[in-house]
Amino acid sequence: MSERSERGSGRPTVLLLHGPNLDLLGEREPAVYGTATLADHVAAARGAAATAGLELEDVQSASEATLVAAVHGARGRCVAVVVNPGALTHYAWSLHDALAAFDGIVIELHLSNPNAREAWRHTSVIAPVATGTIAGLGGDGYPLAIAAVHRLLEPHPHPVEPPT
Ligand code: DQA
Repeated sequence: MSERSERGSGRPTVLLLHGPNLDLLGEREPAVYGTATLADHVAAARGAAATAGLELEDVQSASEATLVAAVHGARGRCVAVVVNPGALTHYAWSLHDALAAFDGIVIELHLSNPNAREAWRHTSVIAPVATGTIAGLGGDGYPLAIAAVHRLLEPHPHPVEPPT
């Protein structure tokens, strides 16, 4: 673990980012996104982070510029970015580029499974710069994303090897 990640609380820091319309969770299309609010999901992620010995910061914005600035602010400071970019997933190349310049773990996270929905949701411009993607598992995705970060930070992770 690098020193950069242990400033402040002394625990490695994960930045949890949410894009547009995710502030409406709980009210927004509950049949698709469930009834839990954004605050519920952030609390679940924060609890999982505390259990894993990680610090969690969170930012939600409808502004691509704000999200890009948050990723810049994570450089050299956070060990991971967990990001649900909302619809920005499908076209925000500036967020792609910001994450490409982030030297740490990137987990792309979606409540729904975009690949099982409209065709325009099948493209993610974030996926090419993500360490991995969690989608379609609803709110369970938040603790799973934190668990993935924790595991990837282990000195000798033993993930399932992808086929060669
Ligand atoms: C989403 C999926 C996106 O396609 C959509 O635009 C969202 C939410 C999800 O969490 O399932 O806003 O990222």
